[in-house]
Amino acid sequence: MSENGQGYVVAVVGAGMVGDRLVSELRRRGFPISELRVLARTARTAEVGGETFEVGVAEPEAFEGVDFAFFAGTEGEKGAAVQLSGAAIERGAVVIDNGSDFRLDDNVPLVVPEVNAGDLAGHNGLIANCNCSTITMLVPLAPLARKFGVEKVVVSTYQAVSGSGRDGVEALENGREGVYPKPIDRNAIPLIGGVGPDGYTSEETKMRLESRKILGLPDLEVYATAVRIPVHTGHAESVYVELGREVTKDEVLEIFSSAPGLVFSGDADGFPTPLEAAGEPGTYVGRVRVEGNRVSFWCVADNLLKGAATNAVQIAESLIEQALVTPKAKV
Ligand SMILES: NC(=O)c1ccc[n+]([C@@H]2O[C@H](COP(=O)([O-])OP(=O)(O)OC[C@H]3O[C@@H](n4cnc5c(N)ncnc54)[C@H](OP(=O)(O)O)[C@@H]3O)[C@@H](O)[C@H]2O)c1
Repeated sequence: MSENGQGYVVAVVGAGMVGDRLVSELRRRGFPISELRVLARTARTAEVGGETFEVGVAEPEAFEGVDFAFFAGTEGEKGAAVQLSGAAIERGAVVIDNGSDFRLDDNVPLVVPEVNAGDLAGHNGLIANCNCSTITMLVPLAPLARKFGVEKVVVSTYQAVSGSGRDGVEALENGREGVYPKPIDRNAIPLIGGVGPDGYTSEETKMRLESRKILGLPDLEVYATAVRIPVHTGHAESVYVELGREVTKDEVLEIFSSAPGLVFSGDADGFPTPLEAAGEPGTYVGRVRVEGNRVSFWCVADNLLKGAATNAVQIAESLIEQALVTPKAKV
């Protein structure tokens, strides 16, 4: 679908769970678009984000004239971002990638706009969207870390199946095999991604390394346990933090009540759940407990929205606000 008028030429690469939400978030947030292309492995007519598109094949020529390219294909050497982000950038597009291929590259800003929008300055055409579990934790953690310092983070996640894309939803709803190492229905699987030599899974390592990069704290202690649960959408997390100094509960609640992007659901007995967060763009925090410099809280966000699409569109909006788009991009 294309439309005339003022705005940017936008490509969404991938028509899966995240591609769908990217289209709907671009529309919901009123992103200025003159033409919207959806690209995937195969051409077809498909409903994406509630609209019917003639989906094109993701190939270098498809990025001709594109100002912003949001990548939401699969990861790895044969994935869309590795194969095609260079072609898009050569043609003048700014690429915002939802996958993990470039997140830890020193030349690539890894951004959660509420936390480190300033890191977008000096980008080289490619910006990485942070891991969904890490975003959910950092929206409440970063303002605490800024104000009081942070020494240690211990986090356990409760992650939805849509975090594994369409395959994960199929595994929960239709019993599809081969997606998870054990059945997910009526179960909890404490193994997300491959296990590294230190015993941590790739998801757990992402939470450690991406948090360090985004917060600018290369030695921050982060101990994560990532768990898949039979919830369709919405990642929840139990977070324990040791801050740099003793704090009062009021100090913590003041931050949680005013931090950008954060919705405070109540202190000790207020608790957001994935069902309420699903379909919403914010990050929710509750179950707050404070003892000395130790703070425990529970946070939840829609993994497809703030964990992916919303954050990606916010990055594009921030690039525009900071006048950091390529000269050819215009409104
Ligand atoms: N799901 C989440 O909560 C979440 C959160 C943050 C980040 N992410 C990341 O976002 C990306 C997309 O995830 P998803 O959940 O949307 O996956 P998904 O539902 O499995 O959809 C993947 C889509 O990517 C397309 N695709 C795959 N390889 C491609 C290629 N080489 N060129 C062009 N298109 C290609 C597929 O095309 P066809 O339809 O033609 O097969 C499909 O439409 C992944 O990198 C994932 O790690 C996901």
